[in-house]
Amino acid sequence: MIPVPTRTGVGLGTLIDVENGKSPQESAVTLTQMMHPEHANPLGNVHGGWILKLIDEAGGIAAARHARLPAVTAEIDTVSFREAVHVGNLVHVNAKLIRSWRTSMEAEVIVEAEDLLSGERRVTSVAYLVFVALDFNGKPTPVVPVIPETPEEKLKWEQADKRRQERLARREQERANLSLQH
Ligand SMILES: CC(C)(COP(=O)(O)OP(=O)(O)OC[C@H]1O[C@@H](n2cnc3c(N)ncnc32)[C@H](O)[C@@H]1OP(=O)(O)O)[C@@H](O)C(=O)NCCC(=O)NCCS
Repeated sequence: MIPVPTRTGVGLGTLIDVENGKSPQESAVTLTQMMHPEHANPLGNVHGGWILKLIDEAGGIAAARHARLPAVTAEIDTVSFREAVHVGNLVHVNAKLIRSWRTSMEAEVIVEAEDLLSGERRVTSVAYLVFVALDFNGKPTPVVPVIPETPEEKLKWEQADKRRQERLARREQERANLSLQH
């Protein structure tokens, strides 16, 4: 395990290019959209697919903003739908980068539904996604590190590595299963 990077880079040697790193706040973005009847599912709540699209879009903007490169979605790792979003709600989709590795980046996306009349805001979804930066030939290319600044950002930076290990193991398993089928 490597230590959490800081702006001074103390003790990190050449492992992390802290000088060119960016804080999670530098990639942070909020997309806000009103939910209309055309976003509804047959139950009258907002269709999960609309929310997923906004999550992917906001995460992709945060990744491209961090890397200043085109970024594609490699994996939608986890996404929870904790509560329904209602037609008429204003949806705020808050995304920021948690951590980057060589060419890949993990974004955290938190969705809030706001009742415009009462002002009440509820967290309705939390998602983690991985984006990969591409060069202008469409090949994965290195990105600058994420330098967490607050205690919460540092904790999330550390926790991201566990999710990465799980993803890599899943990917290996998926490859093995596919090679069995072909
Ligand atoms: C994502 C993609 C570029 C990865 O290409 P690849 O040839 O597998 O690249 P590599 O094996 O060199 O991996 C590159 C990085 O992606 C990461 N990666 C690849 N697939 C991943 C997955 N399913 N989940 C998480 N990370 C993944 C690798 O861990 C590696 O990260 P690192 O450099 O930080 O260590 C490629 O699979 C792709 O183009 N997928 C389609 C993307 C797309 O169309 N998305 C939807 C629309 S945006």
